[in-house]
Amino acid sequence: MFQPLLRIALALSAASALAACTVPAQETSLASPVPPPTDDQDAALSARGEYLVRIAGCNDCHTPAYGERGGSVPKEEWLTGSPMGFHGPWGTTYAANLRLKAAEIEEAGWLEYTANLHTRPLMPDYSVRDMTAEDRLALYRFLRELGPAGTKAPEFLPPGKTPAPPYLQLVLPPPAG
Ligand code: HEC
Repeated sequence: MFQPLLRIALALSAASALAACTVPAQETSLASPVPPPTDDQDAALSARGEYLVRIAGCNDCHTPAYGERGGSVPKEEWLTGSPMGFHGPWGTTYAANLRLKAAEIEEAGWLEYTANLHTRPLMPDYSVRDMTAEDRLALYRFLRELGPAGTKAPEFLPPGKTPAPPYLQLVLPPPAG
């Protein structure tokens, strides 16, 4: 009598111990099939994003008065877009608020979007397209770390419309031929 009962009791407690172990493990594996990156890896990626922004000149256009202030602009103001118009034969464009852009798009969407980025002048869209996926991800992580701020840049004006100041006017040579 005693032995079978003990065996059942042992089996039951082993089963519940097993259940206690496996349930959280299952939940973790469902939520994230690959191990999540460590905080160090996240911090390194975002730091690379900041470095790229600094050296690739994104602030020159996307951060108000970055050049005028010799690059000493607090990060809270970075990449919030600019009211300075670029006026030329293509119309008038304004460097977009990249912090709002990154806030409204998921990581996979950003990678797809930036791999195929085509904009009007003066945005050097080829510089972004030519970045590695990892660098484009680093930009995204940095933008998300900065978080959304500021307002949208002014709307694009079609060719032939004179913008309100401030704007830079580009007078280009006539088309060749
Ligand atoms: C010479 C000025 C200039 C520089 C430098 C520049 N941009 Fe831009 N960027 C612009 C302008 C102007 C637009 C808006 C183009 C348009 O209206 O089609 C723009 C648009 C964009 C857009 C599209 C945003 C949207 O909402 O449509 C992205 C993304 C972008 N820039 C990222 C970058 C990154 C990243 C860098 C640095 C590698 C950078 N830009 C450097 C001027 C610049």
